[in-house]
Amino acid sequence: MHATATPSSATAPRAYEDLPGPRGLPLVGNALQIEPGRFHQQLEAWAGEYGPYFRLQLKERRAIVVSEHETIAAVLRDRPAGFTRSRKQAAIWAEMGLPEGLFMAEGPAWERQRRMVMSAFDPAHIRRYLPAMREVAGRLALRWQAAAREGRALDLQAELMRYTVDTIAGLAFGEEVDTLGGGDDVIQRHLNAIFPTLYRRVLAPVAMWRLHKSRADRELDAAIAEVKAAVAGFIARSRQRMAAEPQRREQPSNLLEAMIAAGDQAGSGIDDEQVAGNVLTMLLAGEDTTANTLAWMLHLLWRHPPALQRAVDEVRQVLGDTLLEAITPEQLGALDYLEACTHETMRLKPVAPMLPLQAAMDTRIGPVDVPAGVVVLLLMRHDGLDEARFSEPRRFMPERWLQAQAQGAKRVAMPFGAGPRICPGRYLALLEIKLALAMLLSRFEITAVDAAGEAGEAAELLAFTMQPVGLMMRLREGMA
Ligand code: HEM
Repeated sequence: MHATATPSSATAPRAYEDLPGPRGLPLVGNALQIEPGRFHQQLEAWAGEYGPYFRLQLKERRAIVVSEHETIAAVLRDRPAGFTRSRKQAAIWAEMGLPEGLFMAEGPAWERQRRMVMSAFDPAHIRRYLPAMREVAGRLALRWQAAAREGRALDLQAELMRYTVDTIAGLAFGEEVDTLGGGDDVIQRHLNAIFPTLYRRVLAPVAMWRLHKSRADRELDAAIAEVKAAVAGFIARSRQRMAAEPQRREQPSNLLEAMIAAGDQAGSGIDDEQVAGNVLTMLLAGEDTTANTLAWMLHLLWRHPPALQRAVDEVRQVLGDTLLEAITPEQLGALDYLEACTHETMRLKPVAPMLPLQAAMDTRIGPVDVPAGVVVLLLMRHDGLDEARFSEPRRFMPERWLQAQAQGAKRVAMPFGAGPRICPGRYLALLEIKLALAMLLSRFEITAVDAAGEAGEAAELLAFTMQPVGLMMRLREGMA
């Protein structure tokens, strides 16, 4: 028996089979009750009813749903040995013909890839990516300037996706991708189909695509083949540039060069197939997450005018008359209130509200003895909304992250996960978020961020990441 140490393990152990949980049907269990778009909300509601540990049956797969943050952190730390990512997710990824990257890898392959990827994400490397990132932010500024002049409302989520796609694609492909300027976004459109399909297939009660390939399934296969060929081209061209300019090995100017350089080190065990898997992984993991966090943040700031005003004041005071193309990492680092707004946004609207893992061996989760193979669904938002841990937990109060006890709060809300598999892109994401907000708040006045939802609140839609539905933003040029 492998024991996951948690404070709750002091209480009497319970068997997995004895856990409460929503009643299901014979054979399918709870599978037909699941609504994929609001699965996280269903699980959160059940946690309210059945407590911090409950049982779920998704056809033949048994699951435990966990919402106590100490136990969640213990599970996340107990990797790679104790828990893997959901094996079904990885199997469907492989079935789709996608090369394995860090997110799906396990065991020694994960360890090798993690070393390679982390070397591309250390703070020194990330600073080197800033010039390319500022350029993308500049293109976003031009696009928004045109909309402001024409009095046109902006589809916020779509706009921010273009920003994160161009940023991350530029870094991961090593070549400019200009969806903001209206450039070719074919690869992008292909990639956009991948995560939602993966998510749908993981939760599908019947694997229809195996019985009969629909037109959409065939289009997806073709899209994946095209994306793979394009990525092979990016890697080949990047290798040519690195051969012509060997200093790129020492001072990589993008993620792709950094990964190739790390993979080429003697004994790294990394080949181009794994580099390709990670180019795709970076794109997929870095796009929606960051764009949706930004969209939620603007939604919340708009609904809390004093917080918005404080953010505007901070940005204008720190930047002074610095031009966008001259913004320094130090200036972005000084935007403490903006960073607090980001943490508060991720507490209330974590874009990964539920993390699916799987027990690699017989183990104990909190007080529960769990057999090997059980799926472990970690509810990441539950304790962040607990009034025992956060005063007025449903209120957007960025100031709470500026207080001395903020470090403790970070252990409760874990928007980037925790332990050995914590998100490697978190500093890059924070930099992208600050850069976009610095551009927006220094150059424009926001005149509306409207949501179609009830009382102006955007609905949450889970499609692998959790996105706000239907946000439209209006801007005016210049200062308020
Ligand atoms: C606000 C933005 C982001 C959020 C909220 C976020 C969140 C997460 C979460 C919750 C995980 C799972 C961590 C765990 O299992 O403990 C993760 C993993 C990962 N993220 Fe992010 N992420 C963001 C941005 C990015 C960016 C920009 C990149 C890359 C450019 C990225 C790349 C990855 C990768 C490769 C993994 C898998 C790590 C592994 O399994 O070892 N993420 N992220």
